Amino acid sequence: MALPCGSGRRWTRAVKMTFCLFFLIPMSSVGNKNTNTIFDKKQKLEVQQQLKRLNKPALKSIESPDGDIIDCVDINKQPAFDHPLLKNHTIQMRPSSYPEGFSIDESNDVSSNSEPKFTQPWHLNGRCPEGTIPVRRTKEEDLLRAGSTANYGRKKHRSIPSAQYSAGQVIHEHAVLSEQGDKYYGMMAEMNVWNPHTQETNEFSLSQFWMTAGTFGQDLNTIEAGMMVYEFLYGDNNTRLFTFWTDDSYQNTGCYNLACSGFVQVDNQIAMGASVAPYSNYDGTQRSVKFYVWKDINGKGDWWMKIADRDFGYWPSSIFSILSDSASSVQWGGEVINLMQDGQHTTTQMGSGHFPEEGLGKASFFKNLKVIDGLKTLTGPRNSQPIITNPTCYNLINSGDSFYFGGPGRNPNCP
Ligand SMILES: *[C@@H]1O[C@H](CO)[C@@H](O)[C@H](O)[C@H]1NC(C)=O
Ligand SMILES: *[C@@H]1O[C@H](CO)[C@@H](O)[C@H](O)[C@H]1NC(C)=O
Repeated sequence: MALPCGSGRRWTRAVKMTFCLFFLIPMSSVGNKNTNTIFDKKQKLEVQQQLKRLNKPALKSIESPDGDIIDCVDINKQPAFDHPLLKNHTIQMRPSSYPEGFSIDESNDVSSNSEPKFTQPWHLNGRCPEGTIPVRRTKEEDLLRAGSTANYGRKKHRSIPSAQYSAGQVIHEHAVLSEQGDKYYGMMAEMNVWNPHTQETNEFSLSQFWMTAGTFGQDLNTIEAGMMVYEFLYGDNNTRLFTFWTDDSYQNTGCYNLACSGFVQVDNQIAMGASVAPYSNYDGTQRSVKFYVWKDINGKGDWWMKIADRDFGYWPSSIFSILSDSASSVQWGGEVINLMQDGQHTTTQMGSGHFPEEGLGKASFFKNLKVIDGLKTLTGPRNSQPIITNPTCYNLINSGDSFYFGGPGRNPNCP
């Protein structure tokens, strides 16, 4: 795997520079078996300290068939409470209210014996007891891949879907629906689960939602979650659940999952960063996951997230600046990183890897789209606009409260 700097003719110099700077370290450490040349004694010590910070003591550990280790961590000792603003935080075990119209499933009731609808591969080998949360253990090799302890779990490619910022951008490709023009206090969406192929370890392919406020490059605040394939971060090409947040446009705050403190998890069944297999089958069984986010305006104003009908956890209002009030846009859709190889678009897929025209069972979808608007009313998107950076590579067909999106990447029309 050669360092592809300079091979992409379509890059502007600035983009190329940024790309090369970001990738020099990780690429060389990935390619070099003898990591001693990269990691000296001091760095090794840093790795051990970082692992200690990330991996809280486990009351029980479960080995997943996919190679992950899931640690059941005392809910009161989770990484969130390392955040300086959350030192005295009293954990909220439940939201104080649900927005009207959000369906509440009884499988969320802890006393219910019914099998939860959403499973992850690690469930085959055990469950986390009450009072704990499942945390995917960070391994030494995860940190070594990141190239530096400071980089681990951080966003290397900073971007949000926006017509303005995506113009002329080659690295990030988006096919998303964007809703703006009001204040937003929540959203919901259901997306089906696929395992898009990624050509390069440093490329990702994801399906997610964004709730944002503020200005990109300055004070952007975001709440993000969805599913992604990202070998560089996780070490394999499984599709994994993820969350993300920032309150300063990805500069000093924000990272994936629980890798930096802030997000408070209360659920003991779903693990962030763990795989979401089984996936949907092309022209066969479809598997989808529902996400809900809402600001708990009757409580402390925290942003709660429900995944697959379970109250998964929340972003405390206090960790944000602008989002402590409301969001100014909601977006749903796909994003890939295309690093271009030998002047060609890579074969990294978005969604199912098929174009939206193929429709149900074949293309990836978002459906049941809703927002909670300025009147605190749950409604379908009213001011939505597609943002599609490169429709011959990845496209989107919007039908109001649902859409199909995705594509194969490189093809005769996307060379
Ligand atoms: C936490 O509580 C201590 C003692 O009451 C107080 O001194 C400190 O300022 C509090 N920290 C935060 C972040 O609220
Ligand atoms: C994931 O990686 C495995 C092992 O390298 C490979 O066999 C498989 O085809 C890959 N899957 C995708 C979707 O790229």
